[in-house]
Amino acid sequence: MSGWYERSCEKIEAMRGRDDLLILAIESSCDETACAITRGREILSDVIASQIDIHKRYGGVVPEIASRNHVMAISGVVSKALADAGVRADELDCVAVTYGSGLLGALLVGVSFAKAFAYALDKPLIAVNHIKGHIAANYLAFPDLKPPYICLIASGGHTAVAKVTGLDEIELLGSTQDDAAGEAFDKVARVLGLEYPGGPKIQKLAEEGKDSVRLPMPLKDEKGYDFSYSGLKTAVINYVHTAEQKGEKVVRADVAKSFQNRAVDMMTDAALRAAIDTGTKKIVIAGGVAANSYLRESMTQKAKARGIEVFYPPLKLCTDNAAMIASQAYNMIASGRGCAREDLDAVASIPIQS
Ligand code: KG4
Ligand code: ZN
Repeated sequence: MSGWYERSCEKIEAMRGRDDLLILAIESSCDETACAITRGREILSDVIASQIDIHKRYGGVVPEIASRNHVMAISGVVSKALADAGVRADELDCVAVTYGSGLLGALLVGVSFAKAFAYALDKPLIAVNHIKGHIAANYLAFPDLKPPYICLIASGGHTAVAKVTGLDEIELLGSTQDDAAGEAFDKVARVLGLEYPGGPKIQKLAEEGKDSVRLPMPLKDEKGYDFSYSGLKTAVINYVHTAEQKGEKVVRADVAKSFQNRAVDMMTDAALRAAIDTGTKKIVIAGGVAANSYLRESMTQKAKARGIEVFYPPLKLCTDNAAMIASQAYNMIASGRGCAREDLDAVASIPIQS
């Protein structure tokens, strides 16, 4: 007698090659409870319940509070995604969920819900890597995009340069040795008295500023593609504190602009070198920091000069959402991977390439 997992594997095998798969995806790795339904690469619904207003009181995401709010929001978010798409649960081909990386308690809410939902409907469940989801957001915006390409991944938890060699295959080329780019944006924002999440606020403030504050370009890895954000972040903190102690005026917009330029240049230089060294003609940007307008513009300009094309998702698909998780589930089905077992668990930290 075959069980749910065996039936799921058979169903997924039968789905390979179909371009009209109806997927419901759930994402709860940080502070957004999200559910989306896609048909192929088309987004039928995309619901996000953000907890930003709750966490900004604390200056960042409080894991326990995030988990509790996911529990309260998830049923409503999933019902709304089905209603918005005009789809009945029994019509779905499969369910997908982010199982890592992220806050363990937050991930567990999505994983537990998705497991119960898929099992009750007798549908396959696909376990998705959050970072691969960020990359896959680009296939929703550019359905004709095909690997190989260089991907610059920049989120609140990860910053890396990778070569994407297949729909579900990544070779990591370099990564941050300490803080992620988004984390550095958030910490610098805090020092400048800006609210969480700091990235968009730094970008806005930088629009009025000049790149006039001397900050070091910390680790310039001439051979590889690694970088470091902790030194740059500390340099900003020291600059602000020293100026305050001396009673000097800190022009916050100039600090924001100077920091943003250094932080972005570090990533774009590494991604460009990776593309040149590997002879790759496409660079794709992914993750929450991909929403940054200076990053989008400067990567595009630098690459254009070398005949390299740059892709990035629309703003709504840069930060955490479930449509990107559905898109990666689609990739995994096409690659014959990802059918989850009954004992699927949330994992706080998984390698980008897993
Ligand atoms: O990918 P994401 O939504 O969540 C994680 O997977 O971590 O990324 C969130 C990060 C936050 O650190 C936020 O400050 C940053 O992305 N971010 C930005 C911008 N919009 C969001 N950073 C710089 N400029 C932006 N416009
Ligand atoms: Zn993310």
